[in-house]
Amino acid sequence: MKKLLGIALALVLVLGMAANASALTVAFSQIGQESDWRTANTDNVCAAIEAQGWELVYADAQQKQENQVQALRSFITQGVDYILFTGVVSSGWDEVLKEVNEAEIPLLLLDRIPDCVDEIEYAAAFGGDFVEEGRRMVRWLANYLEKEGRGDEEINIVMLEGTTGADAQVGRSEGILAELENYPNLKLVAQQTGNFTRAEGQPVMESFLKSVDKIDVLLAQNDDMALGAIDAIKAAGKVPGKDIIVIGCDSVKAAFDAIVAGDMNATIECTPLYADFVVDAINRLEAGEDLGREIIHPDEGCFDAEGGIEYAEGLVSVKAADVIDERVY
Ligand code: AHR
Repeated sequence: MKKLLGIALALVLVLGMAANASALTVAFSQIGQESDWRTANTDNVCAAIEAQGWELVYADAQQKQENQVQALRSFITQGVDYILFTGVVSSGWDEVLKEVNEAEIPLLLLDRIPDCVDEIEYAAAFGGDFVEEGRRMVRWLANYLEKEGRGDEEINIVMLEGTTGADAQVGRSEGILAELENYPNLKLVAQQTGNFTRAEGQPVMESFLKSVDKIDVLLAQNDDMALGAIDAIKAAGKVPGKDIIVIGCDSVKAAFDAIVAGDMNATIECTPLYADFVVDAINRLEAGEDLGREIIHPDEGCFDAEGGIEYAEGLVSVKAADVIDERVY
């Protein structure tokens, strides 16, 4: 009887240890819920963590850097096993991320990469290639104009920028400006932030329409701002997609709907679906693998009304209507 009790106790201890090993606590410092992209990203990552049976500690920073700093410090105090981090802006993270390093909590950088990336330790990094996305917006435009027989026309462009200082804004602006250098007839005549939101894209476009005499193209650094701007274009008595070419970024379902309706011309993809990367990275880290310091960029496409427009070397757009039913975000 004593022997049996001993075996049972040992079994309970072993099972308890195994349960602890699989019950990881994964904390996620997310920036807020400013766009359809962000909502899809949050849902996708959180659902994947919970589906693994891992405990999720989620903190929505409501676009405030100080809230993210506080959340990261609280993750350290709680002794979480992994931290997933997207910074609302690029700078100002050195101190708190070094604290994460000192606490020896593996850090996974998602989406927006902080500018102190070379000075900190991180276990894995994954996000869009924002500079390339900006370049793609302009290349798609140049090739579309060429196809329309407008390749040599003087074209006035207005640009809605994302949250000032965010990696996605800095990168996309850099890519757009660099690519515009290749097309002297494409002129950027106005630019302003719309904070990556539909609510701010609308009034900023409204003010562009009042202050700029001739607008041929809107480059919106995300689809939400493009959709807000479309409302402003319609309210001004112009036809979006025709009088003003509208190009967005993200490729959310609402942008596909706008393209199919003829209100929007193209959207450059930036995927928010990080679940597979996060789960795979954590499992490999748990198995003792070193994932190195490479920042992994997903393969991304471009969607428009007709398809067949080159937006990057050897890559052509896909007709949105053909794939709209497969769109999950
Ligand atoms: O960092 C990714 C960007 O942030 C997406 O393009 C935008 O929609 C989001 O808010």
